[in-house]
Amino acid sequence: MKIKNSTVLITGGSSGIGLELAKVLTNKGNNVIICGKSNEKLLAAKKLIPQLITYQCDLSDSQECIDFAKRIKENHPDLNILINNAAIVNKIDFINDENAMELAENEYQTNLIAPIRLIKLLYKTINANNSSAIINITTGLIYAPRVIYPFYNSSKSALHSFTQTLRIRLKDEKTKVIEVMFPAVNTPWHQGTPPKIAISADVAVSEMINGLEKEKSEIKVGGAKILYLISRFAPSFALKKVNEIQ
Ligand SMILES: NC(=O)c1ccc[n+]([C@@H]2O[C@H](COP(=O)([O-])OP(=O)(O)OC[C@H]3O[C@@H](n4cnc5c(N)ncnc54)[C@H](OP(=O)(O)O)[C@@H]3O)[C@@H](O)[C@H]2O)c1
Repeated sequence: MKIKNSTVLITGGSSGIGLELAKVLTNKGNNVIICGKSNEKLLAAKKLIPQLITYQCDLSDSQECIDFAKRIKENHPDLNILINNAAIVNKIDFINDENAMELAENEYQTNLIAPIRLIKLLYKTINANNSSAIINITTGLIYAPRVIYPFYNSSKSALHSFTQTLRIRLKDEKTKVIEVMFPAVNTPWHQGTPPKIAISADVAVSEMINGLEKEKSEIKVGGAKILYLISRFAPSFALKKVNEIQ
């Protein structure tokens, strides 16, 4: 699919991959809406891309997420594309971290429940419009998890599984269900110390757009494709390698 003449909601569009996507899709003439938790980051994004429509919302809070979806439905009935991109990661030692359960709840709410909730609340609006699509962002780590991210891997694996079933459920509808698995990308996500193998956000986004234009329903970007292939033929080796990444 080519994203043009569309109204696109990008969750977490105020930073990293989401911000790059917002820039690219705005430049292609689309109407782009972003949301994020920090108002400061939303203001900075708006300064960079004045055409953006911004909403402040903490997606990990179910009521805020419900109120946000209501505002989107009321204000943007022409919404035809939802990109579930916002996510967090906690790098922890599950056994020794005193706050592990609090962190787990917040991470699963943000990375898994919020995207599912937004799809549930916005699907009918999206499907009523032409060239409609739901795009869920996941990671190559759904194929081989990293020990240091005990909740992140599993939240994204669950989103992957949900996306597969949603795609089958909607096979006779016009809304496309797409998943994009990214490799390590150099964004603020890594707090200044990205892995050596990280690619830039503009390369990541241009590969994503390329995959969309080729009508792929699962777009495995760069290293995510390699990890997928290794995990199929040598799963233990994939697990070992992914946990050795510096
Ligand atoms: N960077 C990588 O290496 C990498 C690799 C594979 C997959 N991905 C995936 O790519 C996506 C984007 O990652 P990124 O690297 O661009 O990360 P990022 O730079 O940290 O951006 C994350 C975005 O999500 C928003 N967000 C987080 N929690 C939120 C909440 N509770 N409510 C609303 N917004 C929230 C953030 O806004 P606030 O800061 O205001 O909260 C920010 O706009 C994620 O789904 C991630 O899993 C990233």
